[in-house]
Amino acid sequence: MSSNLLHSFAKPSSDAFINMVRGDMALLWDDKGNEYIDAIGSLWYCQIGHGRKEMADAIAAQVSTLETYSTFDPFTNPLAEAVATKVSSLSPIANSRVFLCGSGSESIDTAMKIARTSQIQAGHPERTVIITRNRGYHGTNYGGTSAQGLPLNKIGYGTLLEGVIQVDADDIEAMSIAFEQNKGKVAAIIAEPLQGAGGVWPSSTEYLTGLRRLCNDNGAYLIFDEVITGFGRLGEWFGATYYGVTPDMITFAKGVTSGYQPLGGVITGEAINTALATDPTFFLRHGYTYSGHATVCAAALANIAIMEREGLVERAKHIGARIEKGLQALSADGTLTGYRGAGAIWAGKLPDDMDATIVRDAMIKKGVIARSIPGVIAVCPPLVITDQQIDTVLDVFASVVQSL
Ligand SMILES: Cc1ncc(COP(=O)(O)O)c(C=O)c1O
Repeated sequence: MSSNLLHSFAKPSSDAFINMVRGDMALLWDDKGNEYIDAIGSLWYCQIGHGRKEMADAIAAQVSTLETYSTFDPFTNPLAEAVATKVSSLSPIANSRVFLCGSGSESIDTAMKIARTSQIQAGHPERTVIITRNRGYHGTNYGGTSAQGLPLNKIGYGTLLEGVIQVDADDIEAMSIAFEQNKGKVAAIIAEPLQGAGGVWPSSTEYLTGLRRLCNDNGAYLIFDEVITGFGRLGEWFGATYYGVTPDMITFAKGVTSGYQPLGGVITGEAINTALATDPTFFLRHGYTYSGHATVCAAALANIAIMEREGLVERAKHIGARIEKGLQALSADGTLTGYRGAGAIWAGKLPDDMDATIVRDAMIKKGVIARSIPGVIAVCPPLVITDQQIDTVLDVFASVVQSL
């Protein structure tokens, strides 16, 4: 063991890591000078590309003015206010408000707590059950660990949260039965509009509309986890717009800053806002030291400004169409056994028994970084990736699969 760093999602006994030292748009370099195309946006988050000086300038300007100050009562700061206003204006939820935190996991725990406390404030303390879906990934705090539908990630951490249950994804009948079995007790559903880390599974509009209807009929809140799908990934600012279904809350993180600073948040709609603000004596006892961190918010504003100026949300459609065409051709010629995705997030299905990690590692050796998930290789590139770089990603993917 040569490193003091205990890595995330890694074997603690391992010391074989690729040491990334520099980035420029969709390109990366390690400490040995090897060049890579980043086809996964680091971890599904880097919309504007790496190493952008404009981001450094925005962050430096804020640090030298006021790095941050607490936003707990009675304080606020103009950057946190501006991010809330901007995110609210981009969101498909009318008259929304925005809670800020530091990560996707914190956004999920926040949404779960807000759902339960809003039900109490709305006069329904009996509505406490939160329904999530198999294959869903909602982060690794205790709330998110309880909510996620990837069984391996739940093992070894003791008793998880009570009243958080999973049903089969994309099966409206299963969701309907869960509502019947918990009649009058459901506080909320949490669903990714497109399941990302669980293997890139797009939903159908019909299914998401069905979730909306079940929530309306049963007084439950619909929460979309848009930590990956938010901020342009599907060719709209939010996946909710892509699918034309409006939830009561949206969790976000990742693309809101493209990873230049850690930011997460929850967009809340009128049902929640009314429940929370009707009683003037109610005090929301939830928040993080770095909620509304001014420098983090400066990065978000600069990132969103770049995305708007460069038309990156629209560009996601072009990128996605090119990747889809490539995967379609590789499926047609028998290299792959299929593909799935939406917007600028796609997965190519590997031949049976082919180990995705072996494919990923062979691709890295050829200078392309994609993500291995059992059975598939996923891509979710920076929205500034060039057409030529996309073609290289597809060529390397094809040659590796054909060689194994
Ligand atoms: C849909 C979704 N929700 C929540 C999270 C957790 O976010 P974080 O790793 O920033 O805590 C992730 C991370 O990949 C995610 O994909």
